Amino acid sequence: MRRKTGGRWKKSNFAVGIPPKKNLMRIIRFFYRKIYKKEPPYYYYYSIWKIIVIPIRKYFNVVIIPNTPFNNLRVFMYRCCGYKIGKNVFIGMKCYLDDMCYDKIIIEDNVGISYGVYFACHGQHQVQHTTITIKKGAHIGMRASLISGKHGITIGENSMVGAGALVNKDVPDYVTAVGVPIKIIAPV
Ligand SMILES: CC(C)(COP(=O)(O)OP(=O)(O)OC[C@H]1O[C@@H](n2cnc3c(N)ncnc32)[C@H](O)[C@@H]1OP(=O)(O)O)[C@@H](O)C(=O)NCCC(=O)NCCS
Repeated sequence: MRRKTGGRWKKSNFAVGIPPKKNLMRIIRFFYRKIYKKEPPYYYYYSIWKIIVIPIRKYFNVVIIPNTPFNNLRVFMYRCCGYKIGKNVFIGMKCYLDDMCYDKIIIEDNVGISYGVYFACHGQHQVQHTTITIKKGAHIGMRASLISGKHGITIGENSMVGAGALVNKDVPDYVTAVGVPIKIIAPV
């Protein structure tokens, strides 16, 4: 019996039972193996759609959004990229929100993120992408870096992270944390 793939009947795909998009990537992988004599990297296993969308999102995330001078527009565009951002949030210019893990960054209501804050949810030797959660009313000082590590991190409610801090562990609610890596110096 013939199968329907991608809305149309395809004889070649019927033979192997695989949607057409995957077949194209199979051919590309085949030539990669032939030319370079090694296994293709992980992104050769992505769908065509993903290969097109990833650089577009990266360009918006790294070039367009951080240089947009209106906060509402920046937040709107971040939301369009897939980040979960609550109400009344400020995200300064020149921030970098990990574009590979747009679904792993959760920013709750009334959060303030100053200029030049960097978020990283993935990295070398980190098998799984992990979550960064910023709870209600928290504030991140300028040029801080947030690294989710193996287990993910949470910045507690109404907490303050100092300028230039390196956050690599959880920050409890209602505290001020500063330094590289962060240390709690006082309740807010
Ligand atoms: C974190 C912060 C709120 C702390 O302010 P504070 O409560 O008034 O704290 P203090 O200035 O009394 O400093 C307390 C101690 O923390 C240290 N400290 C303060 N901020 C620090 C920081 N960002 N990094 C490292 N240490 C810091 C101080 O040196 C001081 O140490 P000491 O007691 O050994 O002298 C403030 O320093 C800060 O970083 N604000 C963010 C500013 C910012 O990013 N603005 C955005 C503009 S868009």
